[in-house]
Amino acid sequence: MDFFRDRAGNPILPLGLQTHNSSTGDPSMLEREIAAVKAYHGNLLEAPIYWFRTEPQEGSFCFDDADDLIRRCRENGLYLVLLWFGASKNGHPNYVPEWVKLRPDLYRVARGRDGGHVASLSPVCEATQQADSRAFAALMAHLREADGDTRTVIAVQVENEMGLANTDFDYSDETLALYRQDVPACLDGIVLEDCGVMPGGSSWRSRFGRHAHEAFMAWAHARYMNAVAMAGRAQYDIPVFTNVMLGEQGYEEAGACYNSGAAVGRVLDIYKAAAPDIDLLCPDMYVPDRERYRRVTGLYARNDNPLFIPESPIMGEANAMNMMEAFADYGCIGMACFGGASALDAGGSLLPEAVHVAQSMKAVMGVAPLLIRWRGTGRVHALVQQEFMDKQYLRLDRYHIEAKFISAGGGRWGLGSRINTRDPQNADVLTARGRALLIQTDEDEFFLSGCGVKVDFRRRPDPLVEDPWPLLQSRQSGTLNFLSVEEGHFEGDRWVCDRCRNGDESNFELFVHRGETVRIRLNPCI
Ligand code: DGJ
Repeated sequence: MDFFRDRAGNPILPLGLQTHNSSTGDPSMLEREIAAVKAYHGNLLEAPIYWFRTEPQEGSFCFDDADDLIRRCRENGLYLVLLWFGASKNGHPNYVPEWVKLRPDLYRVARGRDGGHVASLSPVCEATQQADSRAFAALMAHLREADGDTRTVIAVQVENEMGLANTDFDYSDETLALYRQDVPACLDGIVLEDCGVMPGGSSWRSRFGRHAHEAFMAWAHARYMNAVAMAGRAQYDIPVFTNVMLGEQGYEEAGACYNSGAAVGRVLDIYKAAAPDIDLLCPDMYVPDRERYRRVTGLYARNDNPLFIPESPIMGEANAMNMMEAFADYGCIGMACFGGASALDAGGSLLPEAVHVAQSMKAVMGVAPLLIRWRGTGRVHALVQQEFMDKQYLRLDRYHIEAKFISAGGGRWGLGSRINTRDPQNADVLTARGRALLIQTDEDEFFLSGCGVKVDFRRRPDPLVEDPWPLLQSRQSGTLNFLSVEEGHFEGDRWVCDRCRNGDESNFELFVHRGETVRIRLNPCI
């Protein structure tokens, strides 16, 4: 599904970084945040817009922050995603205006089991919902005027990781009264796993059993955010999503392990039913281990919810590796890493810890038009060096493909590699775990984009050939079986060859080192 589009309506793959929470309105931080996006080869900046600066006095609005971000992104050729920090920032109301903070009688704070306030505004509060919606609608109306023609802003995030921390439920009288009513019809047919009851009846308890409180809070938050989104889209109908603090952590109990009512995997169906004006529910993927990463991406990558990752770690090997699988196996439509400015040293250079993720992002960006074209078709493959792996085998219809990971050693110095592997300057390539995307664009044409991987293609014998051995032992079926090997880049959808590889640089293995992209045309006549 092509969700993100440019001004001309062409699909785009947004890739980039999110700023730190307080960078908006701070010129020196924003410069660093944007410099970091460039160092990651990104095309996207995500930055917050604060309710308290947008509406410092009730009813009087200021859009300087949005204008400033739009201008900076235009000047730097970046797309912009604005994050509406309204009633919720990680579930907390830090970014609401003081006139809201000072009226807890009107803009109600949620209550815990003991009756005391918790650190979130109640989603079951008409006054808050209306005030938040009005401010968001004013922002969207301004975006329509300021950016409707140019479309620097490609999407808006509504709220931030909304949900209740440290309680499973808002035990205020108003919320309890609503909870005693019937489950709304829009949730008909939704069943939650492991809820301990045979769903029936019309009460929250009888329908959702031990998850009744969480189900209700999910519905209440979805309804709240949908109202805000709807008010905004009535002014300017661009894509709207929300980001989610993951529920797939620890023992997975709402309020204890994650914000109750957040759009976690368990309650995605409730959100989809109750928040039709929010296009995407997006996981903040701070998940290093592969198994859980795949589980979570699998939960969110649905036909009605293509996978967009608005936040992920900006450093470390894990995200550098896992992101390849998000794009290859889960059709990821875009991604950002959190905290751009932190990836740079004082002089503005990438920190060594940031290099892996930056190189992976470069590799993904290198094949962006192909990902848009081929995702979900089975033609995009991730080559990722998991622990203890030295090689990865892929069997395609016409080819055996062996990916060898450079960090596993075994290569010859220089030969077949274009870099002298004894040179300490190349230590990053030699030690980092390999990861790449391999995209089959035609029967005999592939694009390889990645880091620390060498690939060998061997033509598979035709199943009807009785004696396949001559083909298998022939170098013409393997390392010499190419028409051309080109290093290059895309300009729009057009491939531009920057350098032809031949001889040593293609006769051994076809390599990628630091995020570069290679087009490989094999010989269909062998
Ligand atoms: C998730 C939030 O959505 C971000 O605003 C930020 O606070 C990050 N966590 C990192 O702390």
